[in-house]
Amino acid sequence: MHHETFHYGDLADVRATAEALHAFLPLSEDLSPLYQPMSLAGHIVNNHIAFQPMEGTDGTEAGAPGPLTIRRYQRFAKAGPGLIWFEAVATVPEGRASAHQLYLTEDNLDDFCRLNDQIRETCLKENGYVPVIVMQATNSGRYSKPNGVPAPLIAYRCPPLEEGLDLPWKVLTDDDLRRYEAAFEQTARLSQKAGFDGMDVKCCHRYLACELLSAYTRPGAYGGSYENRTRFLKNAYRAAQAGVTGDFFLTSRLNVYDGFAYPYGFGVHEGSMEPDPQEPIRLIQELRDEFHIPLINVTMGNPYKNPHVNRPYDKGNYVPDEHPLTGVGRMMAGVSEIQAAIPDLPVMGSAFSYLRQFSPNLAAGMVKDGHCALAGFGRMAFADPDFVQEGRSGAISKKNVCISCGNCAVLLRSGTPAGCVVRDREVYKL
Ligand SMILES: Cc1cc2nc3c(=O)[nH]c(=O)nc-3n(C[C@H](O)[C@H](O)[C@H](O)COP(=O)(O)O)c2cc1C
Repeated sequence: MHHETFHYGDLADVRATAEALHAFLPLSEDLSPLYQPMSLAGHIVNNHIAFQPMEGTDGTEAGAPGPLTIRRYQRFAKAGPGLIWFEAVATVPEGRASAHQLYLTEDNLDDFCRLNDQIRETCLKENGYVPVIVMQATNSGRYSKPNGVPAPLIAYRCPPLEEGLDLPWKVLTDDDLRRYEAAFEQTARLSQKAGFDGMDVKCCHRYLACELLSAYTRPGAYGGSYENRTRFLKNAYRAAQAGVTGDFFLTSRLNVYDGFAYPYGFGVHEGSMEPDPQEPIRLIQELRDEFHIPLINVTMGNPYKNPHVNRPYDKGNYVPDEHPLTGVGRMMAGVSEIQAAIPDLPVMGSAFSYLRQFSPNLAAGMVKDGHCALAGFGRMAFADPDFVQEGRSGAISKKNVCISCGNCAVLLRSGTPAGCVVRDREVYKL
């Protein structure tokens, strides 16, 4: 079936299309599975709803949270998800994705401390509990734009990602990579001081650590074999571990499928474009065993070249290649496969927002049937964070939900503050 726009009047409509497409969408009428507490790394998580990292491109030039960053996290805190996965924060200045990406340093540590205090105070006051807060630490690698113009730091030349682009590619040396791994120590140390509960060594969407997982064609210590391709990520964990103490935990947002054919994609069958979870499962098990990660946040795709593998899209000025429910189903199946292979490790799933007012039904179905432990919402957190509390009474108003128009991503790509141009239009305009 080709692309169709969102037209579902009720869950039965969604089910019928999912069945026709053979898309894996376990829906639950009952939303109560989302509102049971769970424990995670010594914390009580109030509910199974998480907000995914959503970069706002609204930090100061020095990397501190700006007024719109503070506003966004106030909205998130008021909404009351059990876990807030704080957006991408750069580990080195040249690895920032924009001149306004957050960058945590000794100089702006107090600003991050204040923001975390405000998040906890607001959530406690509004909802009676505090969220778990995980910070995503990133090196944007290929997508670095520290001064607003592309300055790509790449692991290897990757034709599918470079087609039609003439950029000043810098292929990083092994020494560069060692320096970038080491930078995770300082970021982790500061992240703990700033009051986060844990840190994500970001390994998704083809930013640097993720790109290295598919560096089959790179010579030397960081390319070719599985051991070499995972070296950067594991060394970054070792560095981060050296910077933190006590209960502070490490985790990752990990691509389990890149959507590019061998030898350019991780989690992809050699000889086809089908997902192959073997290496992702091995890697997650190794992270669990060596670094005691208490959860893993599973995602897929690349926001620049196959953006709707990661965030299924409804309509705009082009028609996506596949039916959006096929994309949602791929993600749910991938998340479920990881959870089934590693049942003792809580998995957080991605890409629920496409289903609008029915997205909590998908989240509840996934959680109820044990396909994941936490349901992570991205665009919906921008458009309608209050859905979290609305869902407690089972009624999500369709007037406020995300319509997956993709315009928040358009703002992000243009380096201007990102938010919802439909539901928060007094603040965000294209
Ligand atoms: C504006 C925007 C900013 C994003 N920022 C991040 C980020 O900082 N880190 C990350 O891992 N993913 C980021 N993502 C991806 C989302 O976290 C999420 O995976 C995606 O939107 C799909 O989930 P959804 O269907 O709930 O929106 C971003 C996406 C958008 C649209």
